[in-house]
Amino acid sequence: MWNAGLKPGEAFDARDASPMLKHLIETGKIDVRGKRVLVPGCGRGYDVVALVAAGAEAAVGLELSDRAVEEAKIYLEESKQRLNLSEDAAKRASFLQGEFFSWEPEGGPFDWGYDYTFFCAMHPTMREGQTKSWARVLKAGGELVTLIFPVSAEMDPNQGPPWPVTPEMYQEHFGGAGFALEQMNSVPPELSHKGREGKEFLAFWRRQ
Ligand SMILES: C[S@@+](CC[C@H](N)C(=O)[O-])C[C@H]1O[C@@H](n2cnc3c(N)ncnc32)[C@H](O)[C@@H]1O
Repeated sequence: MWNAGLKPGEAFDARDASPMLKHLIETGKIDVRGKRVLVPGCGRGYDVVALVAAGAEAAVGLELSDRAVEEAKIYLEESKQRLNLSEDAAKRASFLQGEFFSWEPEGGPFDWGYDYTFFCAMHPTMREGQTKSWARVLKAGGELVTLIFPVSAEMDPNQGPPWPVTPEMYQEHFGGAGFALEQMNSVPPELSHKGREGKEFLAFWRRQ
């Protein structure tokens, strides 16, 4: 999709960070100030920009696709004008081409991580490896926020991506990889991207 020139608003690209993430930042329920944060499978980098704007000391977006990395760098540059992102905040964002399952972060494990539409992008047989990788790249005591999507009984579980997911799947896989669940709730419809209403849950985890 990236190599075919995926545009903002097409397929999984929602043109912006989730209203839920922005709400959590605005209400102080997510506080990344002074933290090193990671967003694997960051796509065009909307979440990374939201997180440096919220004061993250460093936010890294990791992407398998080098085209996505290029697009994310363009979005970051544009955000200075469009979103009034300061030069200082922009300097704290970086986008790296890499493969999450084998990636070793240069600066060591992160304090905080965010997974949105990354878990559902992987074939179900890859989930164990994916959650083990999450445990590798986060510090013990570090926090992971997962925005769980798409939760839908109408989707065929044998077809993806996106592969349909359930909160129970997250408990099984993240729990099995050493993450303690601290909180899980459904996302109110007004805090989902259009078209994703009623199909999202939010969970906070602590890496043991
Ligand atoms: C469904 S998209 C989501 C993008 C972004 N999170 C968003 O919400 O717009 C999943 C992204 O994960 C990337 N990806 C897939 N496998 C990956 C891997 N093993 N390591 C890093 N990125 C990967 C893809 O290139 C794609 O951009």
